[in-house]
Amino acid sequence: MDFRLVIIFFIALTTSRADDFSSIYSDDVSNKYFPENFLFGYASAAYQYEGAWDEDGKGPSVWDWDAHNTNWFPVGQNGDIGPDGYHKTDEDVGILKAQGVQAYRFSIAWSRVLPTGLIDNINQKGLDYYKDLIAKLKANNIEPLVTMHHWDIPRVLEEQGGFLNTSLIVPAFVDYATLLFKTYGNDVKYWATFNEPKQTCAGGYEWGGISPQNLHPGFGAYLCSYNLLKAHAKAYRVYDEQFRASQNGFISMVIDTPWIEPATDSALDAEAAERNLQFFYGWWANPIVNGDYPEIMKERVRERSLREGYNRSRLPSFTDEEKQELKGSYDYLTINMYTSNLATYINDVDNAVNFANDISVLLTQPADWEQTAADWFRVYPPGARRVINWIRDRFGDEKGIIVTENGYTDFGNNLQDLDTRGRYHMNYLSNINDAIHVDGVNVTGYMAWSFINDVEWYAGWIVNLGHYYVDFDSPARTRTPKESAAYYRKIATTKCLVDSCVN
Ligand code: BGC
Repeated sequence: MDFRLVIIFFIALTTSRADDFSSIYSDDVSNKYFPENFLFGYASAAYQYEGAWDEDGKGPSVWDWDAHNTNWFPVGQNGDIGPDGYHKTDEDVGILKAQGVQAYRFSIAWSRVLPTGLIDNINQKGLDYYKDLIAKLKANNIEPLVTMHHWDIPRVLEEQGGFLNTSLIVPAFVDYATLLFKTYGNDVKYWATFNEPKQTCAGGYEWGGISPQNLHPGFGAYLCSYNLLKAHAKAYRVYDEQFRASQNGFISMVIDTPWIEPATDSALDAEAAERNLQFFYGWWANPIVNGDYPEIMKERVRERSLREGYNRSRLPSFTDEEKQELKGSYDYLTINMYTSNLATYINDVDNAVNFANDISVLLTQPADWEQTAADWFRVYPPGARRVINWIRDRFGDEKGIIVTENGYTDFGNNLQDLDTRGRYHMNYLSNINDAIHVDGVNVTGYMAWSFINDVEWYAGWIVNLGHYYVDFDSPARTRTPKESAAYYRKIATTKCLVDSCVN
């Protein structure tokens, strides 16, 4: 046989294999199309992606400070360089384009544009970096979805109390948001003020796991949330008053929760599951939709605070004016979803004053749910459909719900991830498709986390979620597609999870 023919035959064989995903298809995967205008995209965050931690005038964020002053990261695995996205705009927009996605959610590093956090010191080079990224996305028909804060406040602000300092953080954030609207608002349609405020506040100021880990159990998470929600509402109103008429964008906040369902049929476990969802998701959604914290949260924290000997609730309350400002301060709803939990009712574990005891629910995960690389994360696809229905039932879906993050963690440099990560996206998306077509929920987009491996916070790159592997040992930080990249490209371009779909 002609040697060239053998090569052509080999190429044809490997190409068709690479595009054959049928080994993961199963009977219960939805074969319905996603709606035509449904946005498939990717999500990322500045600290995890950019590197260039002190380049071109950038100031340190709280994570940069941790990387240089603590041993909280695995040795050498932090965001100083990370995947080096700051220097790879062309290459990475090329990857997004090749992946066929219609949207890209990324975050702006506050300390890159305002190195000291305050508006009197603007870093033009930082502003230019995002201007260029946004222009290149738009030139390739990729809709930017911009997060203003993904856990990385400027360290200087943290040194003055950060999210616990009302008179500092609220106006500083509003000035920062205003600068972003002014600079990018003509090109950005989708804004998110904060990413996962539960993590910022509970992880940062209550139980740890998120920088700055300045922990004040029983008080930290609540004071942080009070300030963060005020900052969100004021930024939203600035947009309403000064920019909406000319820019016509949509603003929200990116909220996360695992799906939580009762561990047994008992009424108490059902009560526990609902209470926990309200403390995790309702904590943020209820203020921006209805103007105040969920009733159950107000009641419980107040009742426990009085019992503990305080003369008022540890959860600060909003004034009527603040409630008005908060109410309706969203243009779409969001959900970052990864995993699920089962809830068992417990009646006041112990008397320690803290946020977890205010909730008093025991969360577990059954051993027969697949365990991923992150200890908190087991796979439970039906949770995707249920959490979306829960959000619609509690907060409505008139303005649409975007799945702003979803992804799968594994270890190391495994490129053969169709069976794991590919299957994960397929099964979660199948449930999301059922939420849309069977339950009639208005879900309008899905952002996979993430297009490349990045800095998984304090787990470095031991744990990763990307569709492209990054060689962190090479100065070039070479990106190599995994099997999941090909499957997600198929989904994003055909809006169908299997080989052919029906309407
Ligand atoms: C965060 C991401 C993170 C992902 C996986 C989300 O909670 O927004 O920054 O990488 O979870 O842990």
